[in-house]
Amino acid sequence: MKALFLVGGMGTRLRPLTNKIPKPMIPIMGKPLLERSILNLKSVGIKEVVLSTCYRAQYIQRYFENGEKLGMKIYHVKEDIPLGTGGAIKNAEEYFDDTFLIFNSDILSDIDLKEFIKYHREKGADVTIAVTQVDDPSMYGVIEYDENDYAISFKEKPQPHEVTSNFINAGAYIFEPKVLEEIPAGRVVSVEKEVFPQLIEKGYKIAVYKGCSYWIDIGTPERYLQAHMDIMSGKYRINGLNFSGKGIYKGPGCDIHSSVKIYEPVYIGANVKIEENASIGANAIIGDNVRIGRGVKIMRSIIWNDVVVENGATLIDTIVASNCRIKQGCDYYSTVYVGEDSCPMAI
Ligand code: GTP
Repeated sequence: MKALFLVGGMGTRLRPLTNKIPKPMIPIMGKPLLERSILNLKSVGIKEVVLSTCYRAQYIQRYFENGEKLGMKIYHVKEDIPLGTGGAIKNAEEYFDDTFLIFNSDILSDIDLKEFIKYHREKGADVTIAVTQVDDPSMYGVIEYDENDYAISFKEKPQPHEVTSNFINAGAYIFEPKVLEEIPAGRVVSVEKEVFPQLIEKGYKIAVYKGCSYWIDIGTPERYLQAHMDIMSGKYRINGLNFSGKGIYKGPGCDIHSSVKIYEPVYIGANVKIEENASIGANAIIGDNVRIGRGVKIMRSIIWNDVVVENGATLIDTIVASNCRIKQGCDYYSTVYVGEDSCPMAI
């Protein structure tokens, strides 16, 4: 079975972090989210992936190339203009002549792909949509369904009185290829707003799969930080990392002064230097090749790669993008910092 990742969105809600890199490539515990998602597929035997690119397409193409480095086959389909989620699926049509998976590439979830595929087959569905339950569905696409778990309506960002369901579209689908015939070609189409409602009208069977217990879309700075806090608390597990509200992960080549105070849980990448009397954690995620000066305090924050934090700086609930320098004595609280040429943004 092949899988399609929708990776062409502008990621506007995650700006300024997405000014230079596309949202699917932002690091989750030091590794691009898309790479983690692709490796998850590999672990269940899926080896062919299509990436539907648009915004910053070259960044994605250069990173994955033909997939050989990951032991996968990766194909890139680039849109000249963003075609929307439905248009992007239609644009990749030539790659799919059998049942296939589709993913938004800004989600972290514990969906069991084997169960998902089995369920789709058992339901004899034309499309199966993974759904997840949230307390307040008003920011999402809500799906109402019948007693046999087939979708009956889709409502984008509804008012509370407009819906009876708090199950939302989790951004993971299984499609039968015949459905592609129903998506118009060569124009912008939204799969959520246009394709799914029309499929229902035409009598296609859309099953809903309720098998996600953990789900988050990392499409805003708050939720990006939250996803990391969930990993650190053990609420969500990442392959190869085992945090449970405690734990220290330290990559190779680190040089950490003996006076540094480390408060678990903490993730420190490779080749990180931390100088005297710094205080790291709890819940600090430090990327590779980072230099942290004397007396620096970092708590509940994510520092990407190749960052310098000068002496005496404080970073709390803050995200610092790659290649930044935090000047001596500067304090940032609940801030996204991407460099001197861009204003720090409050989270
Ligand atoms: P925002 O601008 O913050 O809404 O983010 P986004 O542009 O990524 O949009 P959204 O979160 O709704 O997109 C859901 C998924 O579809 C993401 O994985 C996007 O990369 C992808 N996506 C959205 N629009 C397009 C598009 O026009 N083309 C392609 N290929 N993918 C898209």
